[in-house]
Amino acid sequence: MASSTPATALRELEAAREHAEELRSGIRHHDHRYYILDQPEIGDSQYDTLMRELRTLEERFPDLITPDSPTQRVAGEPVAGFDVVEHREPMLSLSNVFNREELRAWHQRVVRIVEHERFGFVCEPKIDGLAISLVYQDGRFAVGATRGDGLRGEDVTANLRTLRSLPLRLDAPAPSAFEVRGEVYMAKSEFARLNDERAAKGEQLYMNPRNTAAGSIRQLDPRITASRGLDVFIYQLGWADGDAPAATHWEAMRWARNAGLPTNPLAERFDDIDAVAAFCATWVERRDELDYEIDGVVVKIDEFAIQRQVGVVGREPRWATAYKFPAEQAVTRLRAIQISVGRTGVLTPFAVLEPVVVGGVTVSMATLHNEDHIHELDIRAGDDVIVQRAGEVIPQVVGPVLSLRKGRRLRRFKMPERCPVCDTSVAREAEQAASYCPNRACPAQLPRQVEHFVSRGAMDIEGFGEQRSHMFVSKDLVTSLSDIYQLSKRRDELLALDGIGDKSLDALLANIEASKQRPLRRLLIALGIRHVGSETARDLARHFGTLVALRAATREELEAVDGIGPIVAASVFEYLHDEEYAALLDRLVAAGVRTDEDVSARGGPLQGFSIVVTGSLEHWSRNQVEALIKALGGRVSGAVSKATSFVVAGSGGGSKRERAEKLGVDVIDEDEFVLRLREHGWSGE
Ligand code: IVH
Repeated sequence: MASSTPATALRELEAAREHAEELRSGIRHHDHRYYILDQPEIGDSQYDTLMRELRTLEERFPDLITPDSPTQRVAGEPVAGFDVVEHREPMLSLSNVFNREELRAWHQRVVRIVEHERFGFVCEPKIDGLAISLVYQDGRFAVGATRGDGLRGEDVTANLRTLRSLPLRLDAPAPSAFEVRGEVYMAKSEFARLNDERAAKGEQLYMNPRNTAAGSIRQLDPRITASRGLDVFIYQLGWADGDAPAATHWEAMRWARNAGLPTNPLAERFDDIDAVAAFCATWVERRDELDYEIDGVVVKIDEFAIQRQVGVVGREPRWATAYKFPAEQAVTRLRAIQISVGRTGVLTPFAVLEPVVVGGVTVSMATLHNEDHIHELDIRAGDDVIVQRAGEVIPQVVGPVLSLRKGRRLRRFKMPERCPVCDTSVAREAEQAASYCPNRACPAQLPRQVEHFVSRGAMDIEGFGEQRSHMFVSKDLVTSLSDIYQLSKRRDELLALDGIGDKSLDALLANIEASKQRPLRRLLIALGIRHVGSETARDLARHFGTLVALRAATREELEAVDGIGPIVAASVFEYLHDEEYAALLDRLVAAGVRTDEDVSARGGPLQGFSIVVTGSLEHWSRNQVEALIKALGGRVSGAVSKATSFVVAGSGGGSKRERAEKLGVDVIDEDEFVLRLREHGWSGE
């Protein structure tokens, strides 16, 4: 960069300044499209190019760096401690209501004060994160603070700058200075990603997204905050110098959104309290659909004039309330850790809890997975533990409340050395977390094997189920899986059982008969071979085609199957060549159970696949490929989404390719496509 005279240097600087501004406004625009609107116009690599160009320019002309430059997001050196920020207006809390009646009572209190019902409501999810205050001055993000005690918080500006969804500069006319408030949170997916990373490094796992978000914002080193993928929703306009940009909350949020601030798109405005109640009820049901945790719905009166009129009591405004959902976490006493023995003999510890209501349901048991898991979380019988239940998920023990343990001596858990059901010495496979009972005759195993054999993903025998599995085994009507196909010979004994009449028995026997026609992969699942789940079963069935071929395979041939590793191969081989299991297979075959796989199954090899074709292909026209996909049972889609199985791309086809890459969807070329078709059983005709 040879600049011969001061005048040229100046001109160069001016040109650089202009170019830097162009780049910044371009980047801001794309940030907005990506983080706020979720409608990116350019791909990641183009975005990176813009950022790189700006960074280079700023390195050359450091004077051009502005605090609101996108390059400053990945910012700053660690600080020794946080400065204190006094909130100009206190950050309030919310009163709570827990049901429709309490919501109505809240509404009635407001009506009594204003003496009419001519006001609206704005409702939106109550995010389980941490409250922050953001001050913008002259259109630029100036100060960000935590809520603290409501009057004074901590200055976390440098950390908040790293949040990509927060604009450092606004896009619309704004008061010279104003404050907005919002909630910083960590998405569930981000939390899972972070914990996966930590698990891989052998680090202790984080408890929940909320605490992790709070911890991440209060990092002294902004680089750590930046790596945590936090997000934010603005939910309130605080104070504003000069004219307020709106007269209602709804308008204020629209203004904020237009200015580029991230507001929650799920917010809705209603005119009557019944509609508000319906909104709350909907989100109790739908909370699990969201990628962030919510613990209720916030209901606010829309008109600022009415808000002022009803005012604040203590720390809680009368003009808003939180409709709280039933808590998904609760603390209760862990009475004991007991062991259940599964169908493969695996010993699984579970928690016996002092019954407690979580998410509206009474919980008295929860899984504890395995011994390592218990030690990792340091859970001990006698502890007070946090129990969690989300949606339909099985209750889990999140961890002990260590502060409540102090002074009490609780014993670390130890896996029993003998099976609690049959007293056989327990075995533990090297490198496997699970202990198991090696006694195949252990009475704990057979009923569960039967239950699995008849279940939907396996032989799918309707009307059999858990209860009958256990009953038939206990009555010695089933002493081996193959006995299921001998039940038709034991009509009288079956009819003597409780709850089985002629009609239901006929139906059951017909369903048992029909199950003989399931393809080989279902049989392989049903057998419950260790390490063989539905995918492995499918791979084996497709590869070998028949049970005869599978039984003839060597260990090496098993290992050579795509997707099958040495542990699985060994397990399958040992099963097939075990005397007892080989005899079981022979009995099943003799009973007439089908033993081959039908590759040209009903819907064709591409059934269930959604495929996008883009760009120009070499050997085929797009139409030909699309016709082929449909002929093989697949679905052709015009747009790439998370549901896309893969994208077949020729030359060109840029934007769909980029979108697929962003979403982590496979992009393959023509040759690979043909390979996949063959893998899925297409013969090439
Ligand atoms: S409005 C007067 N809207 O809930 C306070 N708060 O219990 C008005 N919160 O500290 C708050 N999501 O951090 C509002 N959509 C939302 C919210 C929300 C979460 C938090 C907020 C506040 C706490 C009150």
